[in-house]
Parts: sequence; C-alpha cells; structure tokens
Amino acid sequence: MRTPLSSPFSPGSDTVPSVWAGRTKQLSDWHDVIRPRRLAGIPERGRTILGEAGLGKSTLVRRIAADAVQAGDWVTPQLRIPSGTDPLKRVATALLDLSQAAGLPLKRDRQLGELLGKVQQLSVAGVSMATREARDRPDAYSVLTELLIELGRAARRHGDTMVLIHVDEMQNISSPDVLSQMLIAFGDALVHEELESVPGGRQVAVALPIAVYLTGLPEFADMAGARQGATFARRFQTTILTPIGDEDFSAALQPFVTKGWPILTPQGTEARIFLEPDAQRYIVELSQGEPFLFQLAGQQAWFAGVDTVITRDDVRAGWGEARVEALSHVERILERLPESERAFLRAMAELEPDQRTATSIAQRLGYASATPIGPSAQRLDTKRGIIIRGKPYDFRHRAVGAYLTSDWPDLE
Ligand SMILES: Nc1ncnc2c1ncn2[C@@H]1O[C@H](COP(=O)(O)OP(=O)(O)OP(=O)(O)O)[C@@H](O)[C@H]1O
Ligand SMILES: [Mg+2]
Repeated sequence: MRTPLSSPFSPGSDTVPSVWAGRTKQLSDWHDVIRPRRLAGIPERGRTILGEAGLGKSTLVRRIAADAVQAGDWVTPQLRIPSGTDPLKRVATALLDLSQAAGLPLKRDRQLGELLGKVQQLSVAGVSMATREARDRPDAYSVLTELLIELGRAARRHGDTMVLIHVDEMQNISSPDVLSQMLIAFGDALVHEELESVPGGRQVAVALPIAVYLTGLPEFADMAGARQGATFARRFQTTILTPIGDEDFSAALQPFVTKGWPILTPQGTEARIFLEPDAQRYIVELSQGEPFLFQLAGQQAWFAGVDTVITRDDVRAGWGEARVEALSHVERILERLPESERAFLRAMAELEPDQRTATSIAQRLGYASATPIGPSAQRLDTKRGIIIRGKPYDFRHRAVGAYLTSDWPDLE
C-alpha cells in the first residue's frame, strides 16, 4: 500500500516538507509582524536566521516564501550562494527577473530603463565590476538599492503586495567588501522612506513593502558584525534557530495517528496511512529535536513496510537503515567547529550531567581556572545555540549531546 513514491517525508530535499513541525514563532513573525507592518508603511528590520547545519533555516524561509507567493507577493527564488561564486550576479539577476515578473514599465520609463541597464551590467560582470569601478564609482551596489526601491514602489502601488528577498548560505560570501556592500544595499532599501500625501494635505513618511531574509551558518554573524557592527544590528534582527520541541514533532505526526495520512495508490484511489502511537513516540525520541533526523526517521519507517499502519517495529527497522546517515549528520556539525570548541564539548560530555560547571570543564581540559574556556563557552551558547550555560551547563542541541555521550538512540 505505502510505496517510496507516496512518502510525505523529505530528508534533505529542497522542498517545503509536507510533514511540517513547529517554528510557529518565526512563521508568525512573518505573518503577524513583518508583512502587515511593512504593508502599512511602518519600518521593520530585515531578518537574519542562523543556526547549525540541518536545523531548518533554508526550509523555514522557503516556507515563508511559499506562503508569500500564495498571498500574491513578489518573491525571489531562494538565492543560494555556493562558495566561490559571485553573489552580486545572483542577486542582480534575481532582481531583474522580479522586475520583469512585476511588470515594471521599463520601456516607457527612461530613467528606469537606464537603471535596469546598470543592474544588467552588474548581473553580467558581478564583483569584478564592483571592484573595478570601486575607485571612481563607489556606488556600484547602489543600483541594487535603487532597483529594490523601484520594486517596492511598484508593489506599494499594486497594493497589498510585498517584495521578498531570500539569500541563503550567507557564510559563503568570502569577500568582506562584497558582503558589506550587499548588506548596505539591502539595508538602505529597508530603511528607505517615501513621502506620501494623506488627506488634509499633509505628507507622511512611509517605508516600502520590502522584506529581506538572510540565512546561513552562525559564522555569518561574526563576518557581518566585524565589518558592519552596529549598522548591521540596527538593520537586521538575528535569530539563532534552536532544535524543534518534542511536542511540535508529536503534533506534526498526530494526523497520521488520528485520521491517517492520505496518499494516492498506484491505482489512483485514495488510501490512508496510520501511525501507531508507540511509533509516533519513537520517531519523536529518535529525532532528538533535529528536523533532519525527524524526516529521516519518518522516511525510513515508511520504507520499512508496505501496510497501512506504520508500527514501532517499522520505526526501529528504519532507524537501523538510517544509522550511518544519522550519525554523520551530527559528525558534520562537530567537524565544522574550531578544535577549541570541539574539545570543550567533549570535556563537557565526559562529565556527569550534574557536574558540568565551567570550573570542572576547564579542569578536564587542564586549566586551573574557568577563564580560558570562557570564550568557547560563550560562543557555543549565544552564537551557536549548542549549549546552555545554566547551573549546571547542558546541551541545547540534544543530538550533539547524545552523540558525545552514550545517550545516542541506538536500537533497543
Ligand atoms: N519545520 C520543519 N518541520 C519538518 N521538517 C523540517 C522543518 N524544517 C526543516 N525540516 C527538514 O529538515 C531538513 C534540514 O532542513 P534545511 O536544509 O532547511 O536545514 P538548514 O538549516 O538549511 O541546513 P544547512 O545549514 O545544511 O543548509 C530538511 O530535510 C527539511 O525537510
Ligand atoms: Mg540550508
């Protein structure tokens, strides 16, 4: 009955997963704060969403973008910046496409036509143009701002329409110059205000309906902060994604338990796939707060059998298949960390949970006091969201904690 083709789980694919869990605060931030405020002409900062690999940064903004498209907004595709590529070309091209889709009157409006020409040059020459011209014309990036503002104006005229930009993998923008110019370009468009006449002959300043989402690994905060400091913080609000709560995963699976998940059989008829409550609990336990592990455990449980009911045994058999992939998911996170932070986590994991204090961790690492490990501890907490510096310290990233201790959910 259930086939690989009909599985609604999607570990690692570039879609919005059908089995969606949590992130209600971030979704509501878009629906209830950013969108309505910007549409009303009230300024609202851009958003930076950072977090360790696999926590669902790209997926979250992809979902927001999909909702925006549904609402009729003008949305760029997710602009992923592979390392070593030219982010400027990517953004310039996307804005040109958006202008076309939005029907900006390029032909009729000479000024607009010229602006588009400049952006077009930028979309072809990219960074080389920006740096070549930087000496005599420091405003190579300002054409991006201008075009964004034009798009914002058109969206405001159109009514009830937002312009939404999503740039992903921001940590891959390796040139500090390019990064700071890009942040300035977006930031300037976000703070831009226009004078509009209101009844009674007065003029008021309104912000344009533009929203910018930047996503990437936590390192991006350092890169942006180093160059832009306070300006960046004033223009972008940063969120560090943390793991998803067990209740949210459980709720996401509830439709399987109560009504069954509807699928289309190869014969074209509808069938429903159910999940035993025991199997539901087991998937939640195996996921350890990680959306990637959640999709993986669900997918493999689905693949483990063919009947209409997914059992606890299916989940167990599936997890056996997923073992290597699940472990390497956490290994990738650990491998990325600087050695000092990795050593910190290992030392912390070796201690009994109630013994995990700064002093004991420092001692294990061979220090007489907690001072030398302070910076690592702070980064792992506030920048990465991997630990919580409570009394005692604890792992916020449960999968990392489980991997380093003997708590990893192996097969019973
Ligand atoms: N809210 C969610 N509910 C259910 N599954 C989710 C959710 N968010 C993400 N996922 C799943 O988790 C996996 C990882 O998501 P995603 O690729 O967005 O992570 P990321 O933080 O962008 O990782 P990376 O840093 O590697 O780019 C995907 O398989 C995705 O389907
Ligand atoms: Mg991503």
